[in-house]
Amino acid sequence: MTPPRPASDPGSPGNPSPSPSPSSGSPSPSSGSPSPSPSSGSPGSPGDLDSQGYDGLLALAVDVALAAGRLLASREGREGRVPVAATKSSPTDVVTEMDRRSEELIRARILRARPGDAILGEEGGQTGDAPVRWVIDPLDGTVNYLYGLHDWAVSIAAEVSGVIVAGVVSVPRRGEMFGATLGGGAWLESGGARDALRCGPGVPLAQALVATGFGYQAARRKAQGDVVAAVLPRVRDIRRGGVASVDLCSVAAGRVDGFYERGLHYWDYAAGGLIAAEAGAVVGGLGGAPASPSMTIAAGPELFGALADMLAGLDAERDG
Ligand code: IPD
Repeated sequence: MTPPRPASDPGSPGNPSPSPSPSSGSPSPSSGSPSPSPSSGSPGSPGDLDSQGYDGLLALAVDVALAAGRLLASREGREGRVPVAATKSSPTDVVTEMDRRSEELIRARILRARPGDAILGEEGGQTGDAPVRWVIDPLDGTVNYLYGLHDWAVSIAAEVSGVIVAGVVSVPRRGEMFGATLGGGAWLESGGARDALRCGPGVPLAQALVATGFGYQAARRKAQGDVVAAVLPRVRDIRRGGVASVDLCSVAAGRVDGFYERGLHYWDYAAGGLIAAEAGAVVGGLGGAPASPSMTIAAGPELFGALADMLAGLDAERDG
C-alpha cells in the first residue's frame, strides 16, 4: 500500500490545519479557517477549481458515501458479526471483507464520474496522479462495525492540488452526514434537515470533555495509556468512541470540546479535519505543527492551546 504523503508534502494531512502558535497556546483568531484561500488562483492552488467546483466534489462525495454506507449497513448486524477476512498490523486491527468492498464501490463510483482523478484509500493505497485526489476511509471504526456497535463511518475527502477542499463523514446508523467545503462552512444533515455547525464555546481545560483514540500496536497503546492517565485528572472526562473521523465531527458539532490522537492515518482525519476547521475549531499538531499522523488535535480556539501545551508537556508523541 502506498503510504499517505508525509506531513511536509503540500498534499499532506496538514491541510485542514491552520497554524496554531507553537508555544503560546493561543491560536490566531482566524485559526478556525484553513489557511489556503479558495479563490487565490495561484498556480497549483485550490483556486484551480472554483468554489462551485468544490460543491460538485462535495455532492459526489455525499452520493458515494451514502451508497457505501448502504452497502455496509446491509450486512452489519444482520448476519451476526462480519467475517474477519484478514488482520493488518496486529490481531486487533481487523480488516473485514466489507471494508474492502466499500472501498471498491467508492473507487468505482468516483472514477465513473471523474475518470482522471487520483485516489488514496486505506485498503487500495494510491492510484493515479492528478490534481484532484480523493482520500477515503471506506469504513472508519472497523472494530465497532465488527461488534455491531453503531458508531462507524465512511469518510471521503477531495483534495485539489494538495489542499483538501471538500469532505464528508457519513454515519449511516445514526442517519447523520457531516460535510464541509473549504471556505464554505461545515454542516450536519440529519432527519432531512441540514444545519450549519459551529464548534462549542471555549471551556477551561479542567472542564473540557476530550475525545481520544488508541492505535493498534501494543507498544504505542502502552504509551497512549500512560498519556491518557495523566490527561484524565486534568479534564472533565475522556471519551473513546472508536471512530476518529466522527470524533473530529463531534468537535465540529460541540458534542465534545476537544480531540487528540497520535498515530492516525491521513484518511482517518482528512475529511473530519476540514469539517472541524470549517466549524471554527483549530486543527493542528504539537508545537505549531500541522495535524499529521504524529499528532492530530482539534478543539475550539480557546481550548486548543491549553490542550496542545498539556500534550506537549506529557511528551504525547512518544511511543515508548
Ligand atoms: C481507527 C479508528 C479509531 C482510531 C484508530 C483508527 P479504523 O480507524 O478511527 O477511532 O483510534 O487509530 O485506526 O482502523 O477503524 O479505520
